[in-house]
Amino acid sequence: MPSETKTNNTPHAFPEPSPETKAHSDQLKSFIQNKIKASGGKISFADYMNLALYAPGLGYYSAGLKKFGKQGDFITAPEISPLFSQCLALQCIQIMKQTQQQVLLEIGAGSGIMAIELILELEKQAQLPEQYLILELSADLRERQQQAIQNRIPHLSERFLWLDRLPDKPFNGIIIANELLDAMPVHLLKLKADNVFERYVSVDGNGQFIWLDSAPENTRLQKIANEIKSLHQEYAHLNDEPEASYTTEVNLQAIDWIKTIAELLGSGAILLVDYGYTAQEYYHPQRSMGTLMCHYQHHRHDDPFYLPGLQDITAHVNFSSIARAATESGLSVCGFTTQAHFLMSGGLVELTKDLDPDDVLRFSEVARQIKMLTLPEEMGELFKVILLAKDKPLSLAAFQFKDFQNRL
Ligand SMILES: C[S@@+](CC[C@H](N)C(=O)[O-])C[C@H]1O[C@@H](n2cnc3c(N)ncnc32)[C@H](O)[C@@H]1O
Repeated sequence: MPSETKTNNTPHAFPEPSPETKAHSDQLKSFIQNKIKASGGKISFADYMNLALYAPGLGYYSAGLKKFGKQGDFITAPEISPLFSQCLALQCIQIMKQTQQQVLLEIGAGSGIMAIELILELEKQAQLPEQYLILELSADLRERQQQAIQNRIPHLSERFLWLDRLPDKPFNGIIIANELLDAMPVHLLKLKADNVFERYVSVDGNGQFIWLDSAPENTRLQKIANEIKSLHQEYAHLNDEPEASYTTEVNLQAIDWIKTIAELLGSGAILLVDYGYTAQEYYHPQRSMGTLMCHYQHHRHDDPFYLPGLQDITAHVNFSSIARAATESGLSVCGFTTQAHFLMSGGLVELTKDLDPDDVLRFSEVARQIKMLTLPEEMGELFKVILLAKDKPLSLAAFQFKDFQNRL
């Protein structure tokens, strides 16, 4: 996601898509419009986002456009530097030793770059896992991952296995994911002083997507809206009209996903990296426009109806809700820290100690990568890492310097 991204709220000034890509977007638009018609005139924003990102063969992640890196729409930590995946590998070794589990499962593996760099580091440390499983929702990305692994590390390719769905329970192993939760569809809530609305998506007479606000049909959303409202009472001194019109997101899918994972995990751990906040920060009254964001060719904006299928749509993660779902379903939270602290305590210094400062080009390139991963104004503070475990608490070096669990 966001680093290197320019913020711009006027999509009309963005680069025009080619006629073929525009036709692709139009096709997805009609597909979603038909779904809206078939559902009686409106769908939840979560359903819209799900179709825009994952409609088979058409959605942003399901179709063949390049998404990650310079030629794509956004850049993720493993695409920025192998150091990110190498640090994760060092922490996975500690988990493997403490849990005695030798299987890794990566969920939402993108281009496959994290899997490649991570397993190469495990090989270097003589700690190869028995298997590296990948579960990827997008058939197109799954194919790209398979090709990348075959091209870069053919000697390790037999250790990889792609799953079509989550493994049967009990799964014993280590589950890892970078920027998975932010790519899950969210519901949108609009809070007013005396009312709560859910934001639905409809179509106007000209065939354009429009917002339709009405009472949430899902009782879980109503309950969460009440929790947000009571949180706002605590901040009442900050704002005369804290609930004038407050839009925010709720990621029910992430909560359900954590519960499912907790159920299927026999012995092992879950290590998740993503951008987001604790509930206190997420639902702060001054964040009145929520965190929903779109990325189109490295431009960041807030119009999810712009060129469906050609842009990423994402929302920050509420890590308190992840921790709560985890503990309610029998997992323990063993660490929560920023990406910067995780990397700095988790091996970054060791991994770069042999860098030759006289090799100016290489040295300055690695310094640039480290800055992007760790500086507070880049990815260092916004991105967080959470460690969840099943049968016994784990202790990792990466959380030893700073662990912010008490803020969750
Ligand atoms: C923002 S991308 C991150 C990709 C990669 N992890 C990285 O850091 O570059 C989100 C990835 O998660 C996948 N994804 C989203 N929801 C998923 C789910 N429920 N199960 C498996 N993969 C999923 C998407 O297809 C995509 O590969």
